[in-house]
Amino acid sequence: MTLRRVNVIILVLLAVAFLILVQRNLLNLGDFLHKENPDAGMILPFESELSPDLRSDSVRKGEEIPVLITATEDRLGAVVAAINSVYENSKANVVFTIVTLNDTVDHLKVWLSETKLKTVKYNIVVFKPELLSGKISKDPKTPETVKPLTFARYYLPAYIPEAEKAIYLDDDIIVQGDIQELYETNLKPGHAAAFSDDCNSASAKGIVRGAGNQNNYIGFLDFKKAAIKKLGMKPNTCSFNPGVIITNLTEWKNQNITQQLEHWMELNAQEDLYSKTLAESITTPPLLIVFYKHHSNIDPMWHVRHLGNTGAGNRYSTQFIRAAKLLHWNGHYKPWGRASSYSDVWDKWFIPDPTGKFHPVRRHAEE
Ligand SMILES: *[C@@H]1O[C@H](CO)[C@@H](O)[C@H](O)[C@H]1NC(C)=O
Ligand SMILES: *[C@@H]1O[C@H](CO)[C@@H](O)[C@H](O)[C@H]1NC(C)=O
Ligand SMILES: *[C@@H]1O[C@H](CO)[C@@H](O)[C@H](O)[C@H]1NC(C)=O
Repeated sequence: MTLRRVNVIILVLLAVAFLILVQRNLLNLGDFLHKENPDAGMILPFESELSPDLRSDSVRKGEEIPVLITATEDRLGAVVAAINSVYENSKANVVFTIVTLNDTVDHLKVWLSETKLKTVKYNIVVFKPELLSGKISKDPKTPETVKPLTFARYYLPAYIPEAEKAIYLDDDIIVQGDIQELYETNLKPGHAAAFSDDCNSASAKGIVRGAGNQNNYIGFLDFKKAAIKKLGMKPNTCSFNPGVIITNLTEWKNQNITQQLEHWMELNAQEDLYSKTLAESITTPPLLIVFYKHHSNIDPMWHVRHLGNTGAGNRYSTQFIRAAKLLHWNGHYKPWGRASSYSDVWDKWFIPDPTGKFHPVRRHAEE
């Protein structure tokens, strides 16, 4: 009798010890993969470097949530505020991939390492603008020819090769919810991405009244052009905003999404397929074509937008702005500029530049 009881106790103890071992090994394996992967088999069109080794007590464990964001020198304060808001509002193991140009790397590193952001995990990758040569129009009136980083979202699997699921965020956003929740957005089988639709959300009402006819495909694409006609898309289809994207990178790769986007980018450079009234970024139309009726949806509260549009942006109530999980200042007026709405919300997340190069304009003016 007692012998049997002792056996049971020993068995239970062994099981517990086994479980502890397994968990340890899984955690170690996770660390191992994280450290090893960025150096393994680099055949990528950019340079990459990891944040310096972090003190272990500040390192977040658990499933990694990869977030890709771009950093442009003249609005580096934006990416810093966005990263701060994501990080502070979540306990998740967020790993940022920051895509930038070579000349910005040093400035960015100082800002990340000499402020409270020094515990954030990040990976800086340098975008090679040559990647786009011949694919975008040289027309000087399209400002994107000098904003190559807006195309970084076309290359998501190249920048985060080890991830299956990832988030892309524009830099002119502030996250107020737990990014884990956004990450858990369900993508339907066969879908490579989820976006926020321009029609059935509170944001949509702002766009219709404030920013013209830009909530359907005809606002973005020239339906008189043969290449567009051939696709048989309905011009009044609701568009979406690609400032926040959840992706299944396995599907993205399987469906050759990057190549498809490059194809439409190149074709536009030759045939001018985009709407003459296009007010949003020229990176949007290829995404609208490639993901036509083939994408999942993001909860509207996770992409409350048009805060940078005249009229539209200041219609939201204070309660609504407070309840929003993610705020997006798309449009002309940025929260670090002079005349933006809700810049007080953005200010809460901004971290002053240790080099003193970047100042929010309006503050500068007030001083
Ligand atoms: C990138 O910048 C560093 C200095 O910050 C410079 O030494 C290097 O030559 C640059 N590389 C390219 C490809 O421009
Ligand atoms: C991504 O897509 C692949 C291929 O369809 C699928 O097996 C996988 O479960 C998807 N992953 C997620 C996180 O949705
Ligand atoms: C993607 O590209 C590969 C290689 O170019 C090709 O074999 C494959 O059929 C393409 N897949 C799709 C869905 O277009």
